[in-house]
Amino acid sequence: MKGYTEIKSFEHPILLTGSRKILQDSITNLPFDRIMVLCDRNTWRDCFHYIAPALCKKSCHIHIIKEGEDSKNLSTLEGIWNILSAEGFRRDDALLNLGGGVVCDMGGLAAATFHRGMQFIHVPTSLLAMVDAAIGGKNGVNFRGLKNQIGVFAFPYITLIYPVFLKTLPNRQIQSGFVEMLKHALLNGDDLWNRLSAIEHEEVMHHSHYISEALKVKVSYVDKDPFDHGIRQALNLGHTAGHVFEEWSLLNQSEPMLHGEAIALGMLVELGLSVKLTGLDENFALLASNVFRKHIHLPVPTLQDIGQLIDLAGFDKKNKDHFIRFSLLQKVGKPVVQVAVSRETLSHAFRNTILSLT
Ligand SMILES: NC(=O)c1ccc[n+]([C@@H]2O[C@H](COP(=O)([O-])OP(=O)(O)OC[C@H]3O[C@@H](n4cnc5c(N)ncnc54)[C@H](O)[C@@H]3O)[C@@H](O)[C@H]2O)c1
Repeated sequence: MKGYTEIKSFEHPILLTGSRKILQDSITNLPFDRIMVLCDRNTWRDCFHYIAPALCKKSCHIHIIKEGEDSKNLSTLEGIWNILSAEGFRRDDALLNLGGGVVCDMGGLAAATFHRGMQFIHVPTSLLAMVDAAIGGKNGVNFRGLKNQIGVFAFPYITLIYPVFLKTLPNRQIQSGFVEMLKHALLNGDDLWNRLSAIEHEEVMHHSHYISEALKVKVSYVDKDPFDHGIRQALNLGHTAGHVFEEWSLLNQSEPMLHGEAIALGMLVELGLSVKLTGLDENFALLASNVFRKHIHLPVPTLQDIGQLIDLAGFDKKNKDHFIRFSLLQKVGKPVVQVAVSRETLSHAFRNTILSLT
């Protein structure tokens, strides 16, 4: 038995294994003599020990950042560049990102820009990063309160997925990652959607084929359109409104929503828009909304917050006819990209979603 699954995305390998030996051998065999490991305080505590033996024969430096979305900013990025520079890392060295989406997004950006691009390896440790953030070559940081405003496309040398890391991931984080898996299932087709929407999020931990199936959906969209000019935008389903909720939460809540929780809210808004604008069956939208509703963490914005949500959505204040483009759904497995949505239609959808939750 092979003990691993290998998937290629845009010519870059993704290896999924439940074997610690295969994980460690894959790191030992990397063709880099010097590696900087980037982790946050949690992945340093809970995940680093799994890979430590594989790094013994290499010259290795470890840089630990504070965990969470708050850290995904230019000052943390500068901190990473500072260490790479102070430790004399060169272009033919590598950065190994051991963490969730925050570490992978920022580590990818740091590596892709340091010395005009050094190699990086993603070792995602959260469910969300395994099925989404570490796949597809998008790297970035938040800027001026807006999500992923600064970033680059750059693909890792390899992505190593070891679902055993999930043992220490808090339940709420599993739920957050599960939301992205559900979104992938909606974009894929009835079979995956029916199976995933019928299970509890915890079950994913014991059935890693779901992880592989979900990430393959992402890979299929990325490979058709690696640089996001067309059909890859379908992956934004739930995210245009979801990012608005995430930004709102970072501005207004002392304990911000998790990414997947904001996306679950965004899915409610965008399933509603899909009924109105792209002909999604209303009964199906209700059913799917109930699936996403289970993964929303209260409190959510109130009707009084709609003005701020609309501002965060980025409507042009001077141009009343301005539209924002959304990726919506016509039916399961049939996304529609670049659907124009007016300020009024979006306000309405925010309102319906908020009312449905109160
Ligand atoms: N690049 C992309 O294509 C893409 C796609 C989706 C999401 N994202 C980004 O990903 C980010 C969200 O990722 P996330 O949900 O992984 O958040 P995260 O990186 O903040 O990780 C979530 C929390 O779990 C902890 N953690 C991670 N793995 C752990 C483990 N195995 N054991 C114990 N604790 C662990 C982290 O320290 C953190 O506190 C957002 O910034 C989002 O914008 C990027």
